[in-house]
Amino acid sequence: MDRRLVMVVLTLALSACATLDTRKRDDPVVRGLQIAQRACATCHAIEAGDATSRARRAAPFASLEMRHTVGLEGRLAVLTSKGHYSMAPFVLTVGELADLRAYIESLHTH
Ligand code: HEC
Repeated sequence: MDRRLVMVVLTLALSACATLDTRKRDDPVVRGLQIAQRACATCHAIEAGDATSRARRAAPFASLEMRHTVGLEGRLAVLTSKGHYSMAPFVLTVGELADLRAYIESLHTH
């Protein structure tokens, strides 16, 4: 292959990677998943299609119970700042709460 063509192909491949990376960081759903992995996964099943939470009474995030949690974002704010069950309280920023909500809602699009 001609060297200039190799350069073009390499540049294209690299910029495709960079775009993917930025999109990931800018996606509230991806950030919400990361928060859930860090803070909720020890008790709740957090992935789509995972219906078995580690803590028996903790609703899987993809369950109807979660979907029907009225005012999810406000509820999350209360749950995280006061703690619930044996989860120690911790503070999430308004942005993190929105990310978490976006992630949970993304599990309920179908
Ligand atoms: C130490 C275990 C534990 C952790 C960690 C935990 N939960 Fe829970 N959660 C539970 C249990 C158990 C229930 C059911 C409690 C009940 O029925 O009183 C529950 C219930 C809930 C409910 C529905 C009940 C309600 O009152 O609205 C939501 C929403 C929820 N959790 C969100 C979260 C989120 C978001 C995180 C992570 C930031 C999280 N939980 C982390 C154990 C946990």
